[in-house]
Amino acid sequence: MRTRSILPLLFAAGSIFAGESGAPTQSALKEAFKPHFLVGAALNENQFTERDARGAALIKAHFNSITPENVLKWELVHPEPETYDFGPADAYVRFGESNRMVIVGHTLVWHHQTPDWVFHKEDGSLVSREVLLATMSNHIHTVVGRYQGRIRGWDVVNEALNEDGTMRNNYWMQVIGPDYVRKAFEFAHAADPKAELYYNDFSLENEPKRQGALKLVRKLKAAGIPLAAVGLQNHDKMDWPTCGQLGETIDAFSKEGLKVMITELDVDVLPAAGAAQTAEVGLRVKSRDELNPYSKGLPEDVQQSLARRYAEIFAVLLKHQNQISRVTFWGVTDADSWLNNWPVRGRSSYPLLFDRDGNPKPAFDSVIRSTKRDQTRAAAIVDP
Ligand code: GLA
Repeated sequence: MRTRSILPLLFAAGSIFAGESGAPTQSALKEAFKPHFLVGAALNENQFTERDARGAALIKAHFNSITPENVLKWELVHPEPETYDFGPADAYVRFGESNRMVIVGHTLVWHHQTPDWVFHKEDGSLVSREVLLATMSNHIHTVVGRYQGRIRGWDVVNEALNEDGTMRNNYWMQVIGPDYVRKAFEFAHAADPKAELYYNDFSLENEPKRQGALKLVRKLKAAGIPLAAVGLQNHDKMDWPTCGQLGETIDAFSKEGLKVMITELDVDVLPAAGAAQTAEVGLRVKSRDELNPYSKGLPEDVQQSLARRYAEIFAVLLKHQNQISRVTFWGVTDADSWLNNWPVRGRSSYPLLFDRDGNPKPAFDSVIRSTKRDQTRAAAIVDP
């Protein structure tokens, strides 16, 4: 038998095995999905600096696109009016380039993780529309301009909408007005005319918010903005969104001539904690024992339910593969997930495909199997 030719770490992860011929017999995610769409992950700093060697190895083996979990958010990259800190963001982009990955920029204009100085004067009052537009323009030109030609596309505006589809009354809206969204896209397009531009939000599967987003993207397109795609975050629950809602949402944006990206996929198996169907990062719920039922591990039946839930989600995504350009998971292993601390701090969450030790879960296998089912379906259509 030939010696195994790839990193022992990957064997530890159990995801790629060499057969007698030395060829892999079990696919990496990016290979399994190659005919369908890019498969990405959101990375933290330990992963892209390779301090987390196991995480970095998993990422290189399985993903062909990356999104920065935090380092390109305003508060980190531009903490003070005159201070940009590009160290971590540069390392993120270098990691993507060294590994020939499609690099995503996240995010330019958002109401969270944006420092107070952006909106307020020293006396606490709000800055003027002109000042905020100048700040936004400076930020976008500096950040997007720095990575021109290296970052493929940007989440230009994140989460501009309320659940009822109206515009969120954040400081951007209060100070600039509803055209802040168009302005952000114009600045991003000017800063890198070849970069793809995306609008990203959560819960667009719910009809009222979806209608609001459709209105928004139609307005942007009417204003001549070259919007490339809409990002559906897909911070999913076990029972939401339904497969019907997900499919309808993909169709709705696709009909507008846009690609759809699944940008922040995870599936929450924990009790809802009053946070049903939202990914509102500001939400906080006090810890109670019954909200953390799997602190000692995920029971096998729940593990299997999660695998079935991933299978049904991927069946929808593969059915709509021509409308989808990328599916990105929000994290790599369960240990990395924001859901361990949101909306309740200190829970044990299990939303991703790899467990806390970096081993593939039954959900991983069911996602890989979904591509095989898709090929069987395609073969049946071509050759009945
Ligand atoms: C939102 C943001 C992400 C991230 C997640 C949760 O969806 O777009 O950047 O903060 O919340 O971590």
